[in-house]
Amino acid sequence: MNDQDSVAWVRARLKQARKVFVLTGAGISAESGIPTFRGPEGYWKNYSPQQLASPEGFARDPKLVWEWYNHRRRVIAGCEPNAAHRAVAEIERRAGQFLLCTQNVDGLHQRAGSRCVVEIHGSIWRTRPAAGGGAPFEDRTIYDEDQLPVRAPDGALLRPDVVWFGEALPADAYARVDAFLTSGPVDVAFVIGTSAVFPYIVRWAAIPRHQGALVVEINPAPSLPENIAAVRFAAKAGDILPQLL
Ligand code: OAD
Repeated sequence: MNDQDSVAWVRARLKQARKVFVLTGAGISAESGIPTFRGPEGYWKNYSPQQLASPEGFARDPKLVWEWYNHRRRVIAGCEPNAAHRAVAEIERRAGQFLLCTQNVDGLHQRAGSRCVVEIHGSIWRTRPAAGGGAPFEDRTIYDEDQLPVRAPDGALLRPDVVWFGEALPADAYARVDAFLTSGPVDVAFVIGTSAVFPYIVRWAAIPRHQGALVVEINPAPSLPENIAAVRFAAKAGDILPQLL
């Protein structure tokens, strides 16, 4: 099937769908100008995201890790949601039941109008105590370098409220995705712009497949294991998603 036939097929299925699930990764924000993690621009000052986004990296050099997040805040604040984010928000408006699970911490889905969003890796726009399990709070500050690492008024070290390598996922977010997927079959599922390196991402794509959903992958370098996606668009999200509406 060529892409145009696939577009027509997905569009027809989407029109009839009562329950839609969307999984996204860094690729959906690439066209907004935000570098992906595993692409060549994912490196910052010769550090890989894996070196920086980890409890060990933060323990070693909290200022460096904060500088990276502060830099990303600045980049993201200067970016706008793109056509793919907007199309996902429109799919939600038209669907009966809908859930979007994003690995992105940039908040662009919400800015595009998405409402039912689970941020499975947290949000770059929240901060929380580095130790002791204190509550996160909204924090949209772009800091001056001499304010880093960010500390509470009592001097306690703070950290971004994001999930780092080796850390557990937020239990409530995880449960919300599982509950959505197990409370009746999904009709159409989209997996967009993710390298699907984490087993829970592959699992959340596979569950709808087993329920009989049409699973659609959109990624210039499709990454899901074989036999999950019935339709694979090897293309940019911003080129394909608007055509599906
Ligand atoms: P990655 O950087 O691993 O993968 C981005 C994916 O997007 C790749 O498969 C690209 O081919 C694809 N891509 C690039 N441009 C695209 C476009 N215009 N349209 C569609 N797809 C495009 O990002 P994630 O899969 O999100 O986790 O990475 C998952 C997690 O690993 C991140 O949330 C982060 C990271 O380390 C943590 O920090 C815990």
